[in-house]
Formats: sequence, structure tokens, C-alpha cells
Amino acid sequence: MHKNISLTDLITNIPKAELHLHIEGTFEPELLFAIAHRNNISIPFESVDALRAAYSFNNLQEFLNLYYQGADVLLHEQDFYDLTWAYFLKAKENKIIHSEIFFDPQTHTKRGVSFDAVINGIRKALVDAQDKLGISSRLIMCFLRDMSEESAFETLNQALPYRDWIIGIGLDSAEVGNPPSKFERVFAEARELGLLTVAHAGEEGPAEYVREALNLLNITRIDHGNRCLDDDELLKEIVAKQIPLTVCPLSNLKLRVVMDMKDHPLKTMLKKGLMATVNSDDPAYFGGYINDNFITTAEAVGLEREHIITLVKNSFAASFISEEEKSKYLSLVDEFVANS
Ligand code: HPA
Ligand code: ZN
Repeated sequence: MHKNISLTDLITNIPKAELHLHIEGTFEPELLFAIAHRNNISIPFESVDALRAAYSFNNLQEFLNLYYQGADVLLHEQDFYDLTWAYFLKAKENKIIHSEIFFDPQTHTKRGVSFDAVINGIRKALVDAQDKLGISSRLIMCFLRDMSEESAFETLNQALPYRDWIIGIGLDSAEVGNPPSKFERVFAEARELGLLTVAHAGEEGPAEYVREALNLLNITRIDHGNRCLDDDELLKEIVAKQIPLTVCPLSNLKLRVVMDMKDHPLKTMLKKGLMATVNSDDPAYFGGYINDNFITTAEAVGLEREHIITLVKNSFAASFISEEEKSKYLSLVDEFVANS
């Protein structure tokens, strides 16, 4: 039976996957203050409200400065557990049933926090999310591209004892001036270990960085990828190969990758045949979790029911789970759609 629920109700309740989510970017000011307090770390903001009021950015770097400052209060395994668990509670509210989570070990190891504390805390929350909330997940370890190749290799080595907890590697942080080619060798070594590869590309950087990420890093998904729309030949290749894009609309607005949500290219991407997905990136900093990303974009660019269903199905299809798990999840979506 087709009940024709409203678009907002459809978005709110349809089972979803999230594929582009930085765990450090889910650090809500309330939890940040609480953890800073228990770790005896002072932060240069008077209150939760003052911190939240500082979340206004002109570009990626301005955001990254606050994001790294926020992460500075994370010291112990328990801190990483609490951060990750808080995200899963939000994920549950947003009807996310599968999430592939980025973490940035170098953000912590460069401050003297052990790799073990970071990954053990996150991992325990992943296990609890499956057991207590029924949310499956995978972990993707990102290298900070403004750090050296040597540091990336060191991080890959630190991850070896935890190889089975990590599905793949990614590349994030300041894009311009740090092209994918800088990490060609470390990505090659990671692929030899059987790790899947993704990379942020074409967020602030040019289409050429997207091409490099595909050709030199052999990525299976492009994080952001907006700028591939500038290059027809590249666009054609990405469409032909159906390489998924993990698009983050509220992030794009807050970091001025798009100036107005009405100009967001999501609908154009679908029209051009790109396998786009919707994600929240750093929801604590960008003003909304996945449902807000869908709702805001749908209103601004005029997405319809079929667009939402396509975007949601793309996320499961583009995820790093087995074909069996994919078809299980996709039938859950079909079942929901048939009854809504
Ligand atoms: N881009 C680059 N690096 C990041 C981002 C992003 O959107 N979020 C967290 N690190
Ligand atoms: Zn990102």
C-alpha cells in the first residue's frame, strides 16, 4: 500500500547509511566541555554557547583550526569511546543503520596520545553500537594530507596490529597544495595489505586532484568530489565507472564550497548520472546530522521522493559491506518505501 507520506517524513524515517563522517567532527560543544573539564584542560571559550557561536567559517582551513583545537581535549580511551557513542545515539535518531566512520589518528598521536587509546575507545563504541543499537559500522583511517608522507607511513605501521578493525584508508585535512600524488606510495602499500582506499578530493582542490585520486590512489569512492563537475572528460569517466561520491551538503555550505544551498549541485549530479550519496561530514560543526542534510538540500534544490530513494540506495550500494549485507539492507529500504 502506498501511503504517500510527506517528503520530510520519508527522509526522517527511511533506513539510511552514512559513508562520510569524521568522528572528531561529531564532537558537540556540551561533550567537549565535559571532557575538557574532567581532563583538566582549559579551552579558550567561556561557555558552550560561545564555542558554538564560533562555528562560522570562510573556508576549510578556518574550520580545521577549530576542529583540531576541539580534538585537543581527547586524551584517554574513555574520551574516544564517549565521543563515538554520542555519535551513534545521533545516528540512531537519524535512522542510520550502517555507518562508515573516519578517524584521524595523527590528530591525536602528534599530541602524544597513543594510537591504542584512540582505536580501542572507538572500537568499543562500534561493538556496543552493533549490540545495543543494531547499527553496523566500519572504520576508515584517514591520513592528514598536510602532514608528511613519512608520517602517513608511520601511522599505517601503527595500525598494523589492528588491521582487522580497519576496512580502508582515506585522506583528509587541508586539500590545496597537498595533492593525492603525495600519498601514492603509502596508498599502494595499504592496498597491498588489502585495505580499500578513498580520498577527499575536489572539495576545495581542483578536478585534477580528483583525477589523481582515481588514477594514482585507485580509490573506490570519492569524498566530496564536487569539482569533478568542472571537467567533462573526468565526469564522463566517473559516471561510466559509477564511482560513488560522498557528498556533504551542509558542509559545502558552511565551508563556502557552495555560496547558497540553492546552488548545491546534488540534483545536477544525479541528473548527470553520478552515483551521489548524502552525508554529514562534521555534523557538530556544520549544523546538522544526516536528516538535516537531506531536508535542507531537498527544500533548496527541489528533490523529490524518487531522488531521496535513489540517494539512500546509493549509500548502501556504495558501502564497504558484503554483497549479502547490501541486499539485506536494500530490501529493508524497499520494504520501507513500499509501506510509505
Ligand atoms: N575536508 C577535509 N578535511 C576534513 C574535513 C573536510 O570536510 N572534515 C574533517 N577533516
Ligand atoms: Zn570530510
